[in-house]
Amino acid sequence: MWFMRQAGRSLPEYRQVRADVPMLEACSRPDLITEITMQPVRRHGVDAAIFFSDIVVPLRAVGIDLDIKPGVGPVVADPIRDAPGLKRLRDVEPGDLPYVTEAVGQLVGELGDTPLIGFAGAPFTLASYLIEGGPSKNHEHTKALMYGEPELWDELMRRLAAITLGFLRAQVEAGASAVQLFDSWVGALSAEDYRSCVLPYTSWIFGQLAEYEVPRIHFGVGTGELLGLLGEAGADVVGVDWRVPLDEAVRRVGPGRALQGNLDPATLFAPWEVVAGRTRDILSRGRAAEGHVFNLGHGVLPSTDPDMLTRLTAYVHEQTAR
Ligand code: CP3
Repeated sequence: MWFMRQAGRSLPEYRQVRADVPMLEACSRPDLITEITMQPVRRHGVDAAIFFSDIVVPLRAVGIDLDIKPGVGPVVADPIRDAPGLKRLRDVEPGDLPYVTEAVGQLVGELGDTPLIGFAGAPFTLASYLIEGGPSKNHEHTKALMYGEPELWDELMRRLAAITLGFLRAQVEAGASAVQLFDSWVGALSAEDYRSCVLPYTSWIFGQLAEYEVPRIHFGVGTGELLGLLGEAGADVVGVDWRVPLDEAVRRVGPGRALQGNLDPATLFAPWEVVAGRTRDILSRGRAAEGHVFNLGHGVLPSTDPDMLTRLTAYVHEQTAR
């Protein structure tokens, strides 16, 4: 078990190290990356660390002018919506991400037997930030390009898939022992659009990663109607948000894949008895799966009481001890 967004604002020790350091600067300093990645492992005793970075870090590394604004998210100075804009997206080259390689190396040494999960944003979610210029509810410019200019869309998605793969390769080659591909906003698409406009690119990424033989996790939010396709894309583990019970997700995903999830992060604001009851329910439904990684259904909310996460970690360990 581990928690998406386990490193971050729910922890006072995180807020302290980040007090005077902007987000993207923190993501480029190996000492800070290592410290922030270790914080939730030390505090909660989770079974895995997730590399501290952000999905837009590789875009910045290839020269896209962007920032992460507190309370907003990634903001792109000059959104990409046409062929000349696309030319600004070059591949990740060895040497573009030295701080990633260095931090992963430090972490693998410090973590000992605890695995380090590397991650990246998937092409659709990255495309949405690049095209919209920031977080978007309806993804209207993204869909306009996807529906209206299929050749441009194809080229954009190919370039983003290569950048995503470059970021994941850097982490795995430096020692990360699993990866998660976050397609956070892909739940905005119908199954048909997902199949034709997104799946070919994510499945290329998973195929390219096969040679490393590390478990590959694929996660999106609001993806109840897409769970089967997320499995088809080639991950070993499909992440499920809190909207679909895990036993039903098993049916939708089909055989040959493990599941990850799926306690609603807002549950952690309810009394402990509720958290414990829902956790037992998730563990019991998860037994229908070929493997189950306990997690939340999306990231830890910033105002979560960290003691709740520590208690939940111990509880899942106790409930699953043999
Ligand atoms: O512990 C972890 O999970 C590792 C770190 C991590 C961060 N971002 C750190 C972060 C991971 C895995 C991400 C991925 C990420 N970033 C995603 C995909 C996962 C998801 O949540 O769906 C997305 C969509 C982003 C883009 C992004 N970055 C958003 C929407 C925000 C929030 C902006 C805000 O202030 O509300 C960020 C910033 C960010 N990334 C923070 C952290 C810890 C908060 C920045 C801060 O502390 O100042």
